[in-house]
Amino acid sequence: MKWNLSIIAIGIAMTLWIVPQACGQTFTPMATDARIEKKIDSLLRLMTLEEKIGQMNQYNGSWDVTGPAPQSGGDAIKYQQIRKGEVGAMLNVLGVKNTREIQQLAVNNSRLGIPLLFGYDVIHGYQTMMPIPLGETASWDMQVLEKSARVAAVEATAAGVNWTFAPMMDVSRDARWGRVMEGAGEDPYLGAQAAVARVRGFQGPDLSLANTLAACAKHFAAYGFGEAAREYNTVEITENTLQNVVLPPFKAAAEAGVATFMNAFNEIGGVPATASTYLQRDLLKGAWGFQGFVVSDWGSIRELITHGVAADKREASRLAALGGSDMDMESSAYTTTLAQLVRDGNVPMAYVDDAARRILRVKFLLGLFDDPYRYCDEAREKQYVGAPEHVAIAREVGRKSIVLLKNEGQLLPLAKNAGSIAVIGALAADKDVPLGSWRGQAVTGSAVSLLEGIQAAVAPGVKVVYEPGYKLTTGLRSFVQDLTFAQDDGSGFKAAIKAAKNAEIVVMAIGEDCWQSGEARSQVDITLKGRQEELLREILKVNKRVVVVLMNGRPLAIPGVAEVSPAILEAWHLGSQAGNSIADVLFGDYNPAGKLPISFPRATGQAPIYYNRKSTGRPVNSENNVFWSHYTDAPNTPLYPFGYGLSYTNFQYSELKLSASEIYPSETLQVQVTLTNTGSRAGEEVAQLYVRDLVGSVTRPVKELKGFQKVLLRPGESRQLTFSLTTKDLAFFTGNREWAAEPGDFEVFVGGNSEETLKGAFKLN
Ligand code: BGC
Repeated sequence: MKWNLSIIAIGIAMTLWIVPQACGQTFTPMATDARIEKKIDSLLRLMTLEEKIGQMNQYNGSWDVTGPAPQSGGDAIKYQQIRKGEVGAMLNVLGVKNTREIQQLAVNNSRLGIPLLFGYDVIHGYQTMMPIPLGETASWDMQVLEKSARVAAVEATAAGVNWTFAPMMDVSRDARWGRVMEGAGEDPYLGAQAAVARVRGFQGPDLSLANTLAACAKHFAAYGFGEAAREYNTVEITENTLQNVVLPPFKAAAEAGVATFMNAFNEIGGVPATASTYLQRDLLKGAWGFQGFVVSDWGSIRELITHGVAADKREASRLAALGGSDMDMESSAYTTTLAQLVRDGNVPMAYVDDAARRILRVKFLLGLFDDPYRYCDEAREKQYVGAPEHVAIAREVGRKSIVLLKNEGQLLPLAKNAGSIAVIGALAADKDVPLGSWRGQAVTGSAVSLLEGIQAAVAPGVKVVYEPGYKLTTGLRSFVQDLTFAQDDGSGFKAAIKAAKNAEIVVMAIGEDCWQSGEARSQVDITLKGRQEELLREILKVNKRVVVVLMNGRPLAIPGVAEVSPAILEAWHLGSQAGNSIADVLFGDYNPAGKLPISFPRATGQAPIYYNRKSTGRPVNSENNVFWSHYTDAPNTPLYPFGYGLSYTNFQYSELKLSASEIYPSETLQVQVTLTNTGSRAGEEVAQLYVRDLVGSVTRPVKELKGFQKVLLRPGESRQLTFSLTTKDLAFFTGNREWAAEPGDFEVFVGGNSEETLKGAFKLN
């Protein structure tokens, strides 16, 4: 080891950076470095075609690496290929012992000793679980998102992982899709901010630090727009929506220096994303200048055959390589067919060189050539995986992710010395569901349940009675098994109703099992399963003081619950500290400030539903007849709109002022508003800025989020908030197929959600 100054400097930076609190620091986007490019040049000169293609090959680590290397079967072949330098990356090999063992195979045995990447889905935590990403986004606090990703990175890198397949930044407007839980909701602006915060958290200030890892912007692109929200389904999307809604988070991530992209399972306009030269070569590596590499999604190169654009593996390889997929995850397509394709002149050598260069670049930036075992440190693994300081952060992130949806008669917050509390609902005592469905290495059943959180929070002597009441799911709740919903015979109702009747206050948990959302968990019906609502109504007959705690991975269509319940907290699948975080809010130790990052529908049939919709030619019932854009059996409006969320205090918006009534393209418009805390508690509010472009070369949304600020105000305190708008904020993908702001009239809105706002107007000259 050469103890030169740069290593010492990195050491100092690392010590500082290992503390997750140190977020929001200067961040260096990924860029090409002349010294690294020279090293890659020399390496590429030494590499055979097979070795270059080897870098483009990624395998799943399915074998038990703790035993001796297997001598036969598929795993033995993988071992042999690693030794021959025909594998560039692994996924799902975890733990220092295992990653070291596999890394040694590559470094000690292959001709050039090129280290492997170890990828894993670190989605909202490695072992310490944070809230699901959709929930976390409800904090609208980018420092919180960064901090949460930082914790995940510290734990994952301590366990040998140097690449996470996150963040997912698929905008989705349809809660039937199970993977809405994994994204940042329905809005491209909020999605872009969240994507950048998470990339920063994972990658830190310098990829070469041993506790930072390569992030992955996925799924490129439009995977969240599958028809009828059915998983892996065909995507029919216009260029207008693709450009204005789907791509902004990806572009922001590329600009923030994300090291890798993952393409998507879906097709767009008849072309599977994995084979899309438009997305991967023209846009990403062309117009956006992305310098990292693109990995296929799991087996998505092979799936070009089932999509019906390739007759066999060879053709699938050719299309993917030409399309710009640099690394093949688990299709074994490149490794078996690409060399011959190059030799036959069907794939240019330059494409293979470029892909290998991009992959090597990430390995150099991660510092793997300086020390291939930099992520293999048992002491760090012991110290950081599940560290107590991470648990404390999970509690903080959890409570900031909670959204107060209703609080009639100020039922909340509860007194800690209430006489007695009945905690009702199978979900309330569940120690596993809060961990969510993409749960990394979380220990099964390790979450703090709502019941435990309440028991720990109340004053001594307060009676807490628990009754499960309803049944949620039965059967195997495994990752591979489809859920079966319990036939609830109502046998738990009686005891639950009795407990509710005898208690001063009822806290009832309802919602979804964690395996109801996530990958491959689309649903046609997003109302509450089973007899949960029926029990809630029965309980309300005997006790009106009921606080509903929702635990779910997606918006639910629950108009009945919303109508009858006096108080509702949206608590998502909140992670390892769920129960404590919820108790912090229930008993007022924390004043909730979350806002919905996605609309809640009144009925499943409203999906897709989103606030930034188009006007249509008939937005209102001006003729007072039936022929306008609406349903005859439900309103158009959502149950809870995007951006919505209450507090234990009240906020008032007043005095919306614009710095000018007209601006020129080079000018900045200042939008000012006075925000007052009119209640009697300190609280945070997320003030949101929206604009509407009244006339465009193509139709424009009725509102688009363009800024937000989260501010803490003391009771009675007023603060003037200032937002800035430039032409960059007003630009969109126009009828001329370019990004530009078009002159004309605009409306500007500021408020506490997307529906209740103050309104002003200005003109862009
Ligand atoms: C998912 C990806 C994930 C990959 C590897 C795929 O099924 O779509 O998001 O990263 O598996 O686990």
